[in-house]
Amino acid sequence: MTPQLVLGIESSCDETGVALVALSGSGVPKLLAHALYSQVDMHQAYGGVVPELASRDHIRRVLPLTTSVLREARRRPDEVDVVSFTRGPGLAGALLVGAGVACALGASLGKPVLGIHHLEGHLLSPFLSADPPEFPFVALLVSGGHTQLMLVQGVGHYQVLGETIDDAAGEAFDKSAKLMGLGYPGGPALSRMAEQGDPSAFKLPRPLLHSGDLNFSFAGLKTAVMVQARKLVAAHEEGAPVSGQLITPFESLPTKTRADLAASTEAAITDVLVQKTLAALKQTGQTRVVVAGGVGANRRLRQQLNAACAKRQIRVHYPELSLCTDNGAMIAMAAAMRLQANIQQASETYAFDVKPRWPLNQLMASSVT
Ligand code: KG4
Ligand code: ZN
Repeated sequence: MTPQLVLGIESSCDETGVALVALSGSGVPKLLAHALYSQVDMHQAYGGVVPELASRDHIRRVLPLTTSVLREARRRPDEVDVVSFTRGPGLAGALLVGAGVACALGASLGKPVLGIHHLEGHLLSPFLSADPPEFPFVALLVSGGHTQLMLVQGVGHYQVLGETIDDAAGEAFDKSAKLMGLGYPGGPALSRMAEQGDPSAFKLPRPLLHSGDLNFSFAGLKTAVMVQARKLVAAHEEGAPVSGQLITPFESLPTKTRADLAASTEAAITDVLVQKTLAALKQTGQTRVVVAGGVGANRRLRQQLNAACAKRQIRVHYPELSLCTDNGAMIAMAAAMRLQANIQQASETYAFDVKPRWPLNQLMASSVT
């Protein structure tokens, strides 16, 4: 019998997320409740995620969040049919917390567990929106660690069309933001600053834009942003050599200058993402595209993609803004959709092994069996 209620636990990085999803026949599973705790404030002082602190904080948050989700959905723990969790990829210690708690819950309730691929969670997160997509579609997956274009034929049927050969788009945002003194995570801060700037103020590279394939490369962009930032500081210091010791922090430059560099950086990243997505749609002949992952929250990316797709009669789907970044709802949803499509059974062995490195194509190989 298909299970009815699926609990989802996400703990792969710096957000603890828990959610409860209900299956309803062959329809799109429904989110009953979700709760999220972001560790961003805790890691901010270090300029990035400290894995050991992340694991310890997941331990503190996961059970209170689970209690609050069940209370909000007015369900008892023993009503849960399957406990799902993020099995990978992510930080090993952080993943172990979610996996350990999920397996302990499953064992104590006598319910099976299901380990989920974090990127599949992002990929299927638009099904949590009020306007869910239909299969097949092209997916642009843009998170902090991944940038991939995929052809999605159905649950578990994902073909990678192109991906980054070095940094992810989220990393390009985060590393550029760090150079500009915007802290961690830099993407949202850079994007906010970019709103005041001119996206054509500085000429930055659009890597691999005309490569003829669907791959990305963002490592060089970060270097170009750094060189431009140094030039601006040197000019501010009136004639100091660009290669020499500079003492003025970039943060001390006029707001307009900083905003112009932020806007130019954002434009360089989003231009490449939009152009490559259009190329993937053309190559596959698809008329639907889904954008998922944290960078999918970026306003300029949404505006540019919406405008380009409207001209071509292509439908664009996004997760709700609050579900673009990591959350438990996407994990519960991916588990519910895998169970519903009957491509995987939940397990009662409770011998959890997390997969900190887990290429999505390995999941595809196992999901069709
Ligand atoms: O999907 P996600 O929450 O975590 C991973 O699985 O990696 O993505 C986080 C990434 C970070 O790089 C963050 O800076 C970026 O998404 N991000 C944004 C925005 N919101 C989050 N980048 C640009 N503009 C935004 N509004
Ligand atoms: Zn993520």
